[in-house]
Amino acid sequence: MAQTLLKRGMALVALLAAMACSSGEGVEAKAQGQTDLGKALIVYYSFTGNVRSIVSQLSEQTGADVVEVQPAEEGLDYAANGYEIGSSLIAGIRQHPNDAESYPDIKPIDIDLAAYDNIILCTPLWWSQMAAPMQTFLFRNGQKLAGKHVALIVSSSSSGISSTVADAKRLVPDAVWTGDALWINDRNRSQSSTLIANWLSEQNFQTTDETMKLYITIDGQTQAATFADTQAAQELQAKLQDGPVDVTLNSSGGFEIWGALGFSLTSSDERINAVPGDIILYDDSNICLLYGSNTWSYTRLGKFDGLSQSQLRDFLKAGESGIKVRLSLQSDATKIKNLKASTDAEEQVFNLSGQQMGQTTNGILVSKGRKVAHNK
Ligand SMILES: Cc1cc2nc3c(=O)[nH]c(=O)nc-3n(C[C@H](O)[C@H](O)[C@H](O)COP(=O)(O)O)c2cc1C
Repeated sequence: MAQTLLKRGMALVALLAAMACSSGEGVEAKAQGQTDLGKALIVYYSFTGNVRSIVSQLSEQTGADVVEVQPAEEGLDYAANGYEIGSSLIAGIRQHPNDAESYPDIKPIDIDLAAYDNIILCTPLWWSQMAAPMQTFLFRNGQKLAGKHVALIVSSSSSGISSTVADAKRLVPDAVWTGDALWINDRNRSQSSTLIANWLSEQNFQTTDETMKLYITIDGQTQAATFADTQAAQELQAKLQDGPVDVTLNSSGGFEIWGALGFSLTSSDERINAVPGDIILYDDSNICLLYGSNTWSYTRLGKFDGLSQSQLRDFLKAGESGIKVRLSLQSDATKIKNLKASTDAEEQVFNLSGQQMGQTTNGILVSKGRKVAHNK
């Protein structure tokens, strides 16, 4: 099946990403056809270069920004004398995992983690545990990754990675893990590019449209809307993260359906010429969905995506009263995730409104219960 989360991008992107490693600056360019992971960051540490080359392939396949964790003390040979320094660092952390003194110092990293939806951690394994400098990074920043979608890639010579995965879960207890960690070792290293591609396609990353869209459902029909850039819209988005909100709206004035949200949002009212498709906050605690125009003192919440005025009138049941409206962050299509995949279901693709599409359709589609960039 031609679902391609991944298309080998331009070598230039990999080069830019590698250059960004030391500076901590983001890579804004994205090669055509790459996975759109929202705003994604790769955080890695590498002592002998294996993880660095994994990261080079990973950044080429995703276009994610890259930042490198570097020990504060340069030139240490963690493997010398039978891995003496490396093992004593790991032993120290094992003995006192909650003590900041156990963790070797690392160079300051100038990166705003809050700006990223998805974080991919890439680390070597040391004595079955996560390499000490990477543990330092997570010990210091784990709380900032709370609620973020976090993925893990571990590189070892041959040892299994379960204790390294446990380290990650201990250090970032409130992450939303995207799936199983990827284990690259000396036996499968030559296939790492393919392993990364397959692994990426199985991870539940937060995608851009999930962060941006407001879904409005009336009478079994769902339409997407884009949140406005206001405090009230951000608060509504945060509220919907706890679950959908059901409201009952009534037609009014020949231009809107409106009613109480059941809670207040921070308004920033200004005189607005509202037009069909606008989603408006009125008087702190009322939502108005417009199928006509009106000028009033309002706060913007969002706007319906691509519906004509007559489509809006039909969808919003213009003229009726007691209209049951559900506001949510999840489209019906994402609920396909809950279906147990049958052989037939594996062959089906859906658009984000849940309509089944042909195999040759391009764009963001749902296949096997997962959102994918579909490029035939
Ligand atoms: C201090 C230290 C301890 C290590 N312990 C193990 C181990 O227990 N098991 C294993 O399979 N590999 C171990 N390795 C090997 C690394 O996990 C492996 O070479 C990894 O790919 C290195 O990644 P890097 O080249 O990015 O540093 C160890 C390496 C070091 C430096």
